[in-house]
Amino acid sequence: MAEHIKRIGVLTGGGDCPGLNAVIRAVTKTAIWQHGIEVVGIEDGFQGLIEDRVRPLSARDASGILTRGGTILGSNNRCNPKRYCVRVDPATGPVWENVTGQCVDTARRHGIDAIIVIGGDGTMASAAPLVEAGVNIIGVPKTIDNDIVGTEITFGFLTAVNTATEALDKLHSTADSHHRVMVCEVMGRNAGWIALTAGVASGSDIILLPEIPFDLDHLAENIRFRMRKGGPGFAIIVAAEGARPREGQQIVDRVDPTSPDPIRLGGIGRWVADEIAARTGIETRSSALGHIQRGGGPIPADRILATHFGYHSIKILMEGKRGRMVVRQGNVFGDVDLLFAAGKQRLVPPHHPLIEAARAIGTGFGDGKTREPALDSEAMDSVVV
Ligand code: F6P
Repeated sequence: MAEHIKRIGVLTGGGDCPGLNAVIRAVTKTAIWQHGIEVVGIEDGFQGLIEDRVRPLSARDASGILTRGGTILGSNNRCNPKRYCVRVDPATGPVWENVTGQCVDTARRHGIDAIIVIGGDGTMASAAPLVEAGVNIIGVPKTIDNDIVGTEITFGFLTAVNTATEALDKLHSTADSHHRVMVCEVMGRNAGWIALTAGVASGSDIILLPEIPFDLDHLAENIRFRMRKGGPGFAIIVAAEGARPREGQQIVDRVDPTSPDPIRLGGIGRWVADEIAARTGIETRSSALGHIQRGGGPIPADRILATHFGYHSIKILMEGKRGRMVVRQGNVFGDVDLLFAAGKQRLVPPHHPLIEAARAIGTGFGDGKTREPALDSEAMDSVVV
């Protein structure tokens, strides 16, 4: 047992997502009410440790935030203490410094015995130098992308899937009315979890994943078939922002040189829509959901998951564990070495059961491997466009 824990810090790092406040609430209330531990909030992720922005968090502060989107502590996805951009030199670009010592000093000055770090793989990587410097850190896996190694699910993901599914449902009716192809781009970085899950949940016709490079000729053929005489007359494509054609690269929307993870993907949906229109002559539109997927309050499943994770982080801390990240595997909560998850990505396996099920009901993945009953010669004779 960890009798010596008197005060803990909590911070939220990386891109925000629904459920952060629910974790903060569970951490704070469990720590104060079950163990008499004081809690302080560290503002804007590791930035707050660097700049000494730390404030007390009471159980009252943590009340009423379960359903709120964002994070009451603020977040930052540009801040790795080991490689921190202190300024941008106009001639040479970003100037990096290792400010790990500053973070450790802030934690000591405030009498912080352990820090609950709520973040994704980048935040866990940012926590690594602090762990190596002897700070006790317990990680909680957060991201809409669901791509953290060691856990079968992250909080925020199911809410993002819900948002994307609702958007895809809406695109269905307008695609149907106008006999158009609609391409919807969703987030996820290099992982296709949001695209796959929302794509299946919405009954999308084609799902483009980073893990399965697509073939444009095959895509165009599939679309032409859906537009045949007597066919559905419209098509919905969901494209993960990290999807790419077989012979091409991912599309980068912007590069942030001051970020330890500088690449921001985006634009594949528009590109696919233009290519389809050019190849088939069929009216095609694209929508990119962007940060809408990260906004708003968590759905009930994420509130529950966040509560489990928050509670579990304090439970393992009080068992005397150090440098661990809470996880869920096979529906059971546990923990893994925090450094195991740092800086890695959990991608969709190409033979994931949901891909197999989707293929069985005719959902295309742009690779020609789905057996579309549609693509027989008799049916193709009646293609009108
Ligand atoms: O990791 C979460 C995420 O929303 C990704 O899906 C997306 O690629 C990225 O963050 C966007 O980052 P930013 O908020 O910096 O534009």
